Amino acid sequence: MKNIVIFASGTGSNAENIIHYFKNNYSKSVVAVFSNNSNAKVIQKAKNLNVQTVIFNKQELSGDFVLSKLIDINPDLIVLAGFLLKFPEHIIQEFPNKIINIHPALLPKYGGKGMYGNHVHQAVMDNKETETGITIHFVNEHYDEGGIIFQKSVSITDCSCIEDISKKVHQLEQEFFPLIIDQLLSTNSN
Ligand code: GAR
Repeated sequence: MKNIVIFASGTGSNAENIIHYFKNNYSKSVVAVFSNNSNAKVIQKAKNLNVQTVIFNKQELSGDFVLSKLIDINPDLIVLAGFLLKFPEHIIQEFPNKIINIHPALLPKYGGKGMYGNHVHQAVMDNKETETGITIHFVNEHYDEGGIIFQKSVSITDCSCIEDISKKVHQLEQEFFPLIIDQLLSTNSN
């Protein structure tokens, strides 16, 4: 069995979708959702789907707590799905090439610190872009700069507000994120 761990900070629509996708899979399973926010909607979503949750604070992320929990679980893939804190280097070093993130834009555009959620869509709108999209990439010690695994673009010429853009990006996320996770775990010989 390949173990997937998800990190999320907010609504958790991606987390929920990924959990659903692997629910009846005999070789891959979401075994835990980690969150830095005990009030995040993702926590209740995970509980409703019978997935273990782990709540931690910033100190526990930068110290030993989160790392030791992960070592116990021994994940084959760590998936950041709307996780808004910087992922610490000591965890990245422990799990090389096993941590991925989804970003709601076409990196390297609109990435970096402070670029998350609607901030990204607002910047895309302000710059009058005609397209945006999603990027799934490996996580390294710099925000949004790890190797790109997958990108998909979408036209936004018919979008008049950031909610319209956000909706299109979420649709791409729902369609492609579980598939890419599935592919990675199928080809990854680690
Ligand atoms: C997603 O759109 C994800 O791409 C984005 O946060 C949203 C979380 O939604 N991530 C970032 O902006 C990371 N820089 P969700 O909690 O409903 O899955």
